[in-house]
Amino acid sequence: MVHMRKVRSTGRGSAQTKRPSRRVRQRQAAEASSGAPVEVEVTGLGSRGDGLAVGPDGEKLFIAKSLPGDRLRVRIGPSHGDGRMAEIVAILRPGPGRTEAPCPHFARCGGCALQHLGDDDYIAWKLGRLRLALDRAGLGDASVASPVRIPPGARRRATFTAVRAAAAGSRVCVGFAAARSNDVIDLSACPVLDPDIAAVVPMLRELLDGTLARGGKTRVAISRLNGGLDVVFDWSDPPSASLRERWSCFACEAGLARLSWRRKPAAPAEPVVQHRPVAVVHGGSAVAVPPDAFLQASGLGEAALTQAVLAAMAQANTAADLFCGLGVFALALAAAGKRIHAVDGDEAAVAALAAAVRGKTGLTTERRNLFARPLEPDELRRFDAVAFDPPRAGARAQAMFLADSPVPVVVAISCNLATFIRDARLLAGGGFRLETVTPVDQFLWSPHLELAATFRR
Ligand SMILES: C[S@@+](CC[C@H](N)C(=O)[O-])C[C@H]1O[C@@H](n2cnc3c(N)ncnc32)[C@H](O)[C@@H]1O
Repeated sequence: MVHMRKVRSTGRGSAQTKRPSRRVRQRQAAEASSGAPVEVEVTGLGSRGDGLAVGPDGEKLFIAKSLPGDRLRVRIGPSHGDGRMAEIVAILRPGPGRTEAPCPHFARCGGCALQHLGDDDYIAWKLGRLRLALDRAGLGDASVASPVRIPPGARRRATFTAVRAAAAGSRVCVGFAAARSNDVIDLSACPVLDPDIAAVVPMLRELLDGTLARGGKTRVAISRLNGGLDVVFDWSDPPSASLRERWSCFACEAGLARLSWRRKPAAPAEPVVQHRPVAVVHGGSAVAVPPDAFLQASGLGEAALTQAVLAAMAQANTAADLFCGLGVFALALAAAGKRIHAVDGDEAAVAALAAAVRGKTGLTTERRNLFARPLEPDELRRFDAVAFDPPRAGARAQAMFLADSPVPVVVAISCNLATFIRDARLLAGGGFRLETVTPVDQFLWSPHLELAATFRR
């Protein structure tokens, strides 16, 4: 696929699709049924950042890495939502606004969806989706702050997949999954990642070339923390003494702070070698980070979210940080002199936070499953403000109890627009007014948007 330099700025294109004439559709249908590529014109962008077009049978087509105005030859694939997926065979005429992608892997990699859009169109599309969702939910009166832009090279967490084909002599590929495929893109560059993480990939490939069995597949999570890189291998069998030795040498050569292994994702990880303490600092307190603990995608994004929480809670004396993780917001609020109760379901994260604040007053911790057992209105009564930052599933049960509580200020942090809107409507139903939304674009070139939203009543 060819990515052209930007021709001129464009409108974002509506999500509406223009229906081609009957004669054109009949020709397209004949071509598609024979498996032959068909010509289409992209007229909008869908919620995942795919271009939208009308196929030969009048069906909606989702075409990854395309944009409004593109004239394309595409191959139609399997059903997808209320339409079908289609793959670009050739760009016959690039849409206005098409830009050369900064990453050599963009055409195939599943990590990014929107590098081919000019920057103005890119951010306008994200903000447009946010405003549309707010309007549709009856929350359009909220003020939307200027987006906090996070530059390339700032992503401080990545999980790579490594595979080796079964054929004799095959080499290991290390990278991200290809778009809508189980293939792995063998990464030579990634403009999104922290350069220190990207720099380790070739060394990782060499290590795995010598250790991953033919036909083998594994995942490697890498985080950039104070102290250096923290690496966790998923390895189904306990590592032998010689494998531990090789991992230790790799950790030295790559200058890692720590290397751990675990049987599978979410299983407890065992450190194999640790050269330096692995910590994050929030509100002046250092928290020892458990292997592969949750971190906000970028340090700059984390700082912007923390700023939004502090500003919203400026008047509060007593607050709760729900889904607190390692206590990013809780520790910043405690440093600002507030009494804080921090709650999360992850045992290791809560233990790390508790250890960091042991002997200090003003911050209590609780391990609790907030989906099954959200804080009830009576428990919430003592807080002047509550922040919640759930995983992508959102915090439906907690939002319902907040709506029924007397809490006057709520800050919702979210990386999923759909569940945020659902939870925001629950809060609005309880008398909260959505005051401000601060978009934080820390999932660069993906369709996802992080945000902090302040509700008051
Ligand atoms: C998006 S992270 C936010 C963490 C933290 N606020 C931060 O900024 O680093 C979501 C957090 O929700 C926690 N979590 C996931 N499911 C949970 C549940 N059912 N109950 C309580 N906490 C949960 C995770 O452990 C994780 O720390």
